[in-house]
Amino acid sequence: MLNKNEIEPAFYREAMANFAGAVHLVTTEGPAGRRGVTVIAACSVSDDPATILVCLNRENQKNDMFRDNGVFALNTLAAEHQGLSADFAGLTGKPPEARFVADDWDTISTGAPTLKTALAVFDCELTEAKDFATHRVLFGRVTGLRVGDNLPALLYHRRAYRVL
Ligand SMILES: Cc1cc2nc3c(=O)[nH]c(=O)nc-3n(C[C@H](O)[C@H](O)[C@H](O)COP(=O)(O)O)c2cc1C
Repeated sequence: MLNKNEIEPAFYREAMANFAGAVHLVTTEGPAGRRGVTVIAACSVSDDPATILVCLNRENQKNDMFRDNGVFALNTLAAEHQGLSADFAGLTGKPPEARFVADDWDTISTGAPTLKTALAVFDCELTEAKDFATHRVLFGRVTGLRVGDNLPALLYHRRAYRVL
């Protein structure tokens, strides 16, 4: 047990490593450019109006594209997408444009790339962007939705991929 003033970032990260999270790709396309990033910091806000949020590191200036385009899509990954997750986390050295392979992607309503085989796709118009500490919280009104196949889900837990 730690007191409030003893919570160092490393301890916080250690606790968060025990938090099992669904793995998603958040994508955008527009005047600022096309980009996709692997995230676990995403969740539902409300079903009426349908709204989600995603937290992106704002110290990476490429993430400004999500705010500047004003649209994004959250693509929830299945177990078979572990390689894609590594590509979009920048772990495989693939350049950003090579991470999108045309056959895998389409669009629904906003023009943000949507993964055809995702477990679920939430295509969003940005309603608010709130900067806090190292991160930017993007709130998105869901304007397009796709329910995917009933496949095993990809999770990230204790710094490793898991399958549910
Ligand atoms: C499993 C996993 C989860 C991640 N979750 C987040 C997240 O929630 N928010 C975030 O900003 N970055 C997250 N990242 C890091 C980004 O994916 C990574 O910094 C980014 O894709 C680097 O992109 P670049 O090489 O195009 O700069 C996560 C990485 C992994 C492997």
